Amino acid sequence: MKKQRTTFNSKFGLVMASVGSAVGLGNIWRFPYEAGEHGGGAFLIVYVFCVLILGLSVMLAEFFIGRASQENSVGAFKVLAPHTMWKIIGYNGVIAAFLIFGFYSVVSGWTLEYIYQSIAGNINASSVEKFTADFDKFTSDAFRPVLWILVFTLITHAVVLLGVKKGIERTSKLMMPLLFVILTVLCIRSLMLPNSIEGLKFFFKPDFSKITSDVVLSALGQAFFSVSVGMCCMITYASYFNKSINMPRTAVSVVTLDTVVAIMAGVVIFPAVTSFNISPSQGPSLVFVTLPNIFQQMPLGGLWSLIFFVLLAIAALTSIISMHEVVTAYLHEQYRMSRSKAATIVSLSGFAVGVICSLSFGILSHFRIFGIIIFDLLDFITANLMLTLGGMFICIFVGWFVDKKVLKAELTNNGTVKFRLFSVFVFVIKYIAPVIIALVCIKKLGLF
Ligand code: TRP
Repeated sequence: MKKQRTTFNSKFGLVMASVGSAVGLGNIWRFPYEAGEHGGGAFLIVYVFCVLILGLSVMLAEFFIGRASQENSVGAFKVLAPHTMWKIIGYNGVIAAFLIFGFYSVVSGWTLEYIYQSIAGNINASSVEKFTADFDKFTSDAFRPVLWILVFTLITHAVVLLGVKKGIERTSKLMMPLLFVILTVLCIRSLMLPNSIEGLKFFFKPDFSKITSDVVLSALGQAFFSVSVGMCCMITYASYFNKSINMPRTAVSVVTLDTVVAIMAGVVIFPAVTSFNISPSQGPSLVFVTLPNIFQQMPLGGLWSLIFFVLLAIAALTSIISMHEVVTAYLHEQYRMSRSKAATIVSLSGFAVGVICSLSFGILSHFRIFGIIIFDLLDFITANLMLTLGGMFICIFVGWFVDKKVLKAELTNNGTVKFRLFSVFVFVIKYIAPVIIALVCIKKLGLF
């Protein structure tokens, strides 16, 4: 007899854990600068379309694989498709999770530095140039960022050690509602700024002439990254779902909440940006350079800055534990080692990757592969290649390989819950998603 698998305690906890994984630096740090660089409103429309059609479908496919197999990302394919190559999707997921963990921990560490600086009252440089110089000086340092990665990794380690219910579920149940509250407060503050309407116009008013192929590609990549699909993260989480959970509805909730958070982050950032006359197309430094500059010009700036970076750290933590869990569950179950030993291996080796990524901004910056530093290389390989290809093969696996009766029985809990759009879902994962993703990958690799 197989041992009964751990499950999340409650429906609320399970949704919060999944939302916790989805809502992360991707929503609050990456989304605004991607939108800023790609024309605001035009990007938003394409993004929402990609998330609602493709992101949602891949998520539901991952939910199916996870709950039907009750296994970690590699074990899942060994159960559903024994003695086939499909388990490569699982290995791809584990490796991607591990690598994303590495560079994600670097940016997560930065949030801790900015929390520290906000408390110390140091968010008061004189100009954007000075903020940029401070940011560059800090990120290229050999010691400070590494220290923060260590702190962040230790916190993550502690949560994962506590396990699925007491660690992941409880942390997310606490943190996610807090995140919504903080984000709402920041939205209101931002909307009260003079000239905030200009920022809203930039963000919400689509200029359709700006929708180029580049905008579509960036929006799709961002959509996958943001809802945590493509690297078996949702497979691992869904393996802890109770058999009575309505999975289509859960997927819709997670994707909707994730999109709401991304839009709220835009509502915080763009009015602030236009109100202080700063360019929205700054790239990755948008949040770390522009916002402190904006905060210092507001009354109680240090406090707003503190609130914002706490928000960013919370979002990062509940996401990074999901990447850690993917690898930990894999080692723990496939190699029959204790959970704490598995988690320790992941934390130590993940920390090592984090350190290398961090140093690539400083003493290792001359070490380049294809002309880019290690941090950017990992970002590119994982987010652009491993996630998209992973997502595509997950769709192909569920759309073409899995028996549709089995699929329908699992997604409707043996006919006890309704899933009216089942055939639409099957059509999307069979044809639409793989074709669009394939086109994107080919384009990203510069093949046409
Ligand atoms: N979705 C998270 C974010 O928006 C990042 C993340 C967590 C992720 N788990 C993932 C991305 C799995 C891709 C796959 O920041």
